[in-house]
Amino acid sequence: MSPPRKRDTAPTAPLLPPERRERVRAGLLDGYDRQKRDLPWRRTRDPYAIWLSEVMLQQTQVATVIPYWERFLQRFPTVEALASAPLPDVLAAWRGLGYYSRARNLHLAAQEVVARFGGRLPSTAAELLTLPGFGRYTAGAVASIAFGESAPLVDGNVARVLSRLFEVEGAPGDRAREARLWALATALVPGERPGDFNQALMEHGATVCRPENPLCLLCSVREECLAYRHGRVDELPPAKVRAAPKRMTLAVAVWAHAGRLLLARRAEKGLFGGLWELPAVEVDDDTPAPESAARLSQALGTPVHVEAALGTVRRQLTHRALSLRLLRVTGTTHPTHAPAFQELRWCTPQDASSLGMSTAMHKAFEAALDAGALAP
Ligand code: ADE
Repeated sequence: MSPPRKRDTAPTAPLLPPERRERVRAGLLDGYDRQKRDLPWRRTRDPYAIWLSEVMLQQTQVATVIPYWERFLQRFPTVEALASAPLPDVLAAWRGLGYYSRARNLHLAAQEVVARFGGRLPSTAAELLTLPGFGRYTAGAVASIAFGESAPLVDGNVARVLSRLFEVEGAPGDRAREARLWALATALVPGERPGDFNQALMEHGATVCRPENPLCLLCSVREECLAYRHGRVDELPPAKVRAAPKRMTLAVAVWAHAGRLLLARRAEKGLFGGLWELPAVEVDDDTPAPESAARLSQALGTPVHVEAALGTVRRQLTHRALSLRLLRVTGTTHPTHAPAFQELRWCTPQDASSLGMSTAMHKAFEAALDAGALAP
């Protein structure tokens, strides 16, 4: 028999001793059972409705999500209804929530669920991960909450809770930190009530272990918290370093003809992909109006010239500072299709109100009407 090989590194401490794991689980579940918020998606067992809530909640606050979630389910009550709806209708129901790629992926995934799984959402994180828009988080959330799979998840709230409980160093985005957080979430998620446990972690981050002014005195796992013990709750996790929002200027064509305004549907890819707009092209901050007209002419495939500047609409997104420069334009022909857009339509304000437009473009549209774009 050969002698045991010598280790060349010291043994690492176990990630999570079982007794500590049980105390953390019990404390979090106990806090959740006593104090959980009564949220509408917690009253359903419909996997589709739960999936929808998790997609909406990814970048949007609970209070904003509630009415959108309710309206969306009324409009598209089943996976089949969503799959067979035209994308612009889905995007219209999403208006105001932002991050429209979520809606595009949701729609694509619904179509795949119908095509590949007979309309029933698959029940494991591994299968869910094969659908558009599902990352580790969404797959873990849907598998555990809707189907009771013992699948972990980490979102921003969970990352903060675990960083403090286990004194995980590193800033958001740091690879080693992310790996450790997922390893901890995996070790913690129980075989029983995994969905409640995952929601308990998220709930704890949202209501007790908050980024600012955490309520440590009310915390059900305070005794287990290394950051609390070491007086480091305020320094963990370190703030994310966020790049300044990029400025983006659009020249926007306000083209009226016979009581209608020209609207265009953007290409599927990129910012606001698939959404309707007053035809717009990206320009530099200092692009003069005639050059903007030339760029719009190219996009529309017909010459236009600028009659007047109607003002600028600004909107701040998380990663973009948008300026929409409204230009009243005319041309000699009235196009019905164009190289840079999927579709063109000449719309009355009433026609336009049912099209899927971003909030920014909706404001631009209102501003154009206020500026008398359709005035006789
Ligand atoms: N954030 C995202 N999904 C959540 C959920 N199901 N419960 C609490 N917070 C959440």
